[in-house]
Amino acid sequence: MKVSDISDMWWKTAVFYNLNVGSYLDWNDDGTGDFEGLSHRLDYLGELGVTCLWLAPFYPSPRADNGYDIADYFGVDPRYGDLGDFVEVVRTAHERGMRVIVDLVVNHTSDAHPWFQSARQSRDSPYRDFYIWRDEPPEDQRASMFPDAEDGVWFYDEAAGQYYEHSFYRHQPDLNTANPKVREAIAKVIGFWLQIGVDGFRVDAVPFLIDNGGENEHEYLQAIRTFVGRRNGAGALLGEVNLPYDKQIAFFGDEDGDELTMQFDFVANQRLYLSLAREDAGPLVEALRARPQLARTNQWANFVRNHDELTLDQLSEDERNEVFEAFAPEESMRIHGRGIVRRLPPMLGGDPRWIRMVYSLTFSLPGAPVLYYGEEIGMGEHPTLPGRAAVRTPMQWADSPNGAFSGADADDLPHPLVSGGFSAEHINVSAQLHDPESMFHFVRQLVAAYAISPEIGWGDFEILPQPHACVLVHSLQGSMGRLIALHNFAPDGRKVTVTLDDTDESTRAIDLLGNETYLLDDGVLNVTLDGFGYRWIRIARTGDKRLL
Ligand code: GLC
Repeated sequence: MKVSDISDMWWKTAVFYNLNVGSYLDWNDDGTGDFEGLSHRLDYLGELGVTCLWLAPFYPSPRADNGYDIADYFGVDPRYGDLGDFVEVVRTAHERGMRVIVDLVVNHTSDAHPWFQSARQSRDSPYRDFYIWRDEPPEDQRASMFPDAEDGVWFYDEAAGQYYEHSFYRHQPDLNTANPKVREAIAKVIGFWLQIGVDGFRVDAVPFLIDNGGENEHEYLQAIRTFVGRRNGAGALLGEVNLPYDKQIAFFGDEDGDELTMQFDFVANQRLYLSLAREDAGPLVEALRARPQLARTNQWANFVRNHDELTLDQLSEDERNEVFEAFAPEESMRIHGRGIVRRLPPMLGGDPRWIRMVYSLTFSLPGAPVLYYGEEIGMGEHPTLPGRAAVRTPMQWADSPNGAFSGADADDLPHPLVSGGFSAEHINVSAQLHDPESMFHFVRQLVAAYAISPEIGWGDFEILPQPHACVLVHSLQGSMGRLIALHNFAPDGRKVTVTLDDTDESTRAIDLLGNETYLLDDGVLNVTLDGFGYRWIRIARTGDKRLL
């Protein structure tokens, strides 16, 4: 089957929600979130309108890297429950119309994985060549992804008597994906999770995974995609590829789009923050203009924040410093010299209009939006937790002890809850569910507006010229109509009026997020935006019977 034959391209218009089971809801009160807790929150996620859950690694692991250090690919870490609980979550999610993807972390294993334990014992181990060994590290060693923790990417293992390669932490030895036996083992992992019901994978660290020093690296990614397609015709691969567009595009494959199904748009994400810092839409506009055209089967994943640092590695040093100064003024908020360990609301000083403008924009950009748990209620970070733990604190369900995440002692939780102005006392699901003006209801409205606007996932994208540098106006032309989104990056007091004069085929202009009435005067529409204002306007043609 060719990937272009896939009919059910659900990912083109999906709303993703990423969570870590251990930080979501602790049902048995042992301090750690579990699958049973998650199963009790699927209705909540359904109400939000999520259509695909992305579960962060929940496999048995020493969790020295938040579970991205896997010790067994075929299990569930007992602190979260067992495989039965996992299957129950998948079944219930499917019943609620939600798909489930899981992390596929096969660039490396944990050093606790039995393959590595066997490999290091002897050169004759059948698993020795599962990893990458050298007697001496190369002189021109590449830099580690975690420069404050590691000097390089080779580490001497006493038991093995050789150095092994590790692109990330030293406790994460890289798998030798050039070895056919490793490829078979990875295929078994993929086949296993597809067989028990998952709808695809978030593929970790893809450029590292396929980097085997050889010539035909992308053939391996094609092979993975073909294998997924054979086992589940609607299986998706959402890849993490943080590279400039001209390099990133190759990871979608050829003109059929036969490698990764989706990729996060790290470029637009980083330029978004530069735009926010400058109160100028320009940097984001440049990125969107440079965004490569994708094959029909493929899609961009748009996001505001994720479980890692907000990486700014694709900005120039001056640009990065501008963003640092605006949003991470203290050294403790920065990491690896390239990123920020904060969530959006505190970065924007808790300004609800600014925060909402950013989410409105993200949902309106061509692609599919990905939420990181807690974003829907405007959670903040824990400023004194080390490293990326700051943005991985327990979900805030209610204004009660431990934010109603767990009934265990606070000392037994994976991370302490956020304190201060963004604590569960002030920011929690329960209060927001009852408040129609809350962030939760706003995000829910965005999800609903996205759901009735398939042109965002499928339509033809265009940036509309207009005179205000602080404003981004873009249009998505679908088969039934057109959506025009307007976003003002300038703050309070900087009202602007944008004239849209290219709407002559239309008979109606409908405000999707508000209830303003727009009158078209001979095809001309004047839209006034307040500081941080945003609008989604549907330009409906004659015959478009949609109510909204
Ligand atoms: C990815 C993950 C990150 C992890 C790294 C190593 O970048 O998002 O959390 O530390 O891979 O697996």
